[in-house]
Amino acid sequence: MNVLVIGGGAREHAIAWKLRQSPRVEKLFVAPGNAGTASLGTNLPIWATDIPSLLKAARDHAIDLTMVGPEAPLAEGIVDRFQERGLPVFGPSQAAARIEASKAFAKEVMQRSGIPCARGEVFDSYPEARRFIERRGAPLVVKADGLAAGKGVTVAATEAEAMAALDACMVERVFGPAGERVVIEERLEGREVSVFAFTDGQRLSPLVAACDYKRAYDGDHGPNTGGMGSYAPPELWSPSLARDVEYAILRPTIQALAREGCPYRGVLYAGLMLTAEGPKVLEFNCRLGDPEAQVVLPLLEADLVEVAQAVLAGDVSQAGVRWSQKACVGVVLASEGYPGSYQRGFPIHGLEAAGPDALVFHAGTRLSNGSVVSDGGRVLTIVGRGTDLAAARQLAYRAVEGVRFQGAFHRGDIALLPSRVADPGA
Ligand code: AMP
Ligand code: GLY
Repeated sequence: MNVLVIGGGAREHAIAWKLRQSPRVEKLFVAPGNAGTASLGTNLPIWATDIPSLLKAARDHAIDLTMVGPEAPLAEGIVDRFQERGLPVFGPSQAAARIEASKAFAKEVMQRSGIPCARGEVFDSYPEARRFIERRGAPLVVKADGLAAGKGVTVAATEAEAMAALDACMVERVFGPAGERVVIEERLEGREVSVFAFTDGQRLSPLVAACDYKRAYDGDHGPNTGGMGSYAPPELWSPSLARDVEYAILRPTIQALAREGCPYRGVLYAGLMLTAEGPKVLEFNCRLGDPEAQVVLPLLEADLVEVAQAVLAGDVSQAGVRWSQKACVGVVLASEGYPGSYQRGFPIHGLEAAGPDALVFHAGTRLSNGSVVSDGGRVLTIVGRGTDLAAARQLAYRAVEGVRFQGAFHRGDIALLPSRVADPGA
């Protein structure tokens, strides 16, 4: 088979790496890819949202299966466009991708189906949203309805902050049309976990869970980023919690989407808060997480091509999805200045030295005269895979120490348990 992966980050490198292990894959293409994916297949210089050019590439290269990494092309209907032309593609339709692309839609689906989530309301009217904030008082969470590159959510400790977030969405329109509607909801307390399952629209694969780190610096300080590290499985994840999440959240969600006339096929990602009252949904995403994919895919004990084909054939159970009992820890190496402005083009040294227990997934990298140089804010995710989290963590950091480029920084506390973070002497 000829397979096309859409996207250019470390998540897509991990997808391409996993696909390369399949004996079914002959030619592998990645659009646009990075220096890491170039060693697994052929990069095509096409942006992930340039759907007409992707369609043409899929025809020109006789692609038998397309895997979509990021949310933007899914929200823009890439799956519908490919299917109209008879091109097999793994991912949800545009209508089903609204579970991520519209927080109002997701909230309404959850409320109608009794899926546990934060109590909240959807507003199209600015005065009504203001009155709601006045009536409820802080703390509150204000969310732009649409895709806002991870910046559309404000957890507001005071009424003034909530009002400022509302103004940013509806008056200053900093997110454009994505902020014309807002969801305002109660603040939930607890630990966050990302849960993933493959689904054919009716059945689910076994679940897998991971944690990610959004802040730039150790101890969860500094600005929000696209993610500075991740690990799987979370120490608090258990078979009984997995069952609760499956039956109270994921199954009712795919059933609700099927009832709405938009059955969900692909990988469903639930961002959960583990509250004192049980797990509640913070958000749904219509794809694998980044950097979660980098620690989850190395645990997948199945052929990813077969998984995708089973989903497309309408029976995910055929794929025999199982998750390894091992653990993975992923550490992101970023460019100095990220998530603000940063320089590109620094040579990356030591990539070949990472041992067999460490995986190096590229994000912002490119080839320049045959050598790998930095080309983005998040440059690499280095993953250690071991028998438990402690072993995986050690392998990841040992590999991190061997990789160098000018201005590189990373967090030192990925997969350190929270109690130990709070008490470094322990
Ligand atoms: P979202 O894009 O909806 O996942 O929101 C991004 C982040 O905001 C989440 O990962 C949480 O850390 C935080 N967040 C979102 N909703 C809530 C909520 N209701 N209560 C507390 N934190 C939240
Ligand atoms: N790790 C968060 C996300 O992929 O949205």
